[in-house]
Amino acid sequence: MRNITDNLELLYSASEIRKRIKTLGALISKKYDKKDPIFIGVLNGSFIFMADLLRSISIECEMDFIKVRSYSGQKSSGTIQLLKDISADVKDRDIILVEDIIDTGLTIKFLRNRLFGSSPKSIAIATLLFKPSVAEIDFDIDYIGFEIPQEYVVGYGLDYEQKLRHLDGLYCIK
Ligand code: IMP
Repeated sequence: MRNITDNLELLYSASEIRKRIKTLGALISKKYDKKDPIFIGVLNGSFIFMADLLRSISIECEMDFIKVRSYSGQKSSGTIQLLKDISADVKDRDIILVEDIIDTGLTIKFLRNRLFGSSPKSIAIATLLFKPSVAEIDFDIDYIGFEIPQEYVVGYGLDYEQKLRHLDGLYCIK
């Protein structure tokens, strides 16, 4: 029997990801200097990206996490469930919402709308991966690690049925 890890094709190596995140961190640090932004990571998928992005930030900042569920297996369920809310008060704060991947855009739309309800000063979006051919959104994505085609990606925090998050590179399932 073949294992799922036999069917993986490397998309971005750990060192390519590290390099790109350093660039994103520098851009964000420049733009948010003296603004004390709060990074909000979307669990579970963004936990590794969030950890590396935060360590590439050279200005004062805070962080929190929010958790939603929208996928089962490789398919979007079409409805978003909030599993854990943020604890921070984000009124009048500059938020940077940190996603692992924007696929259909449903999750990011839901989260952005929800967070706007808490009256922040601004909301920017940072995503490691973006599938431009699939996403249906009517707002800008401010920081994108990599644009990718319509393929299912795992590793570096992204799962397939809750597995494979531990891989240090990003892989397509062949
Ligand atoms: P969206 O709502 O369709 O944009 O999907 C957002 C969420 O679905 C992401 O935060 C991921 O958790 C999950 N997701 C979408 N595409 C992939 C993928 O290719 N690999 C792993 N998870 C994915």
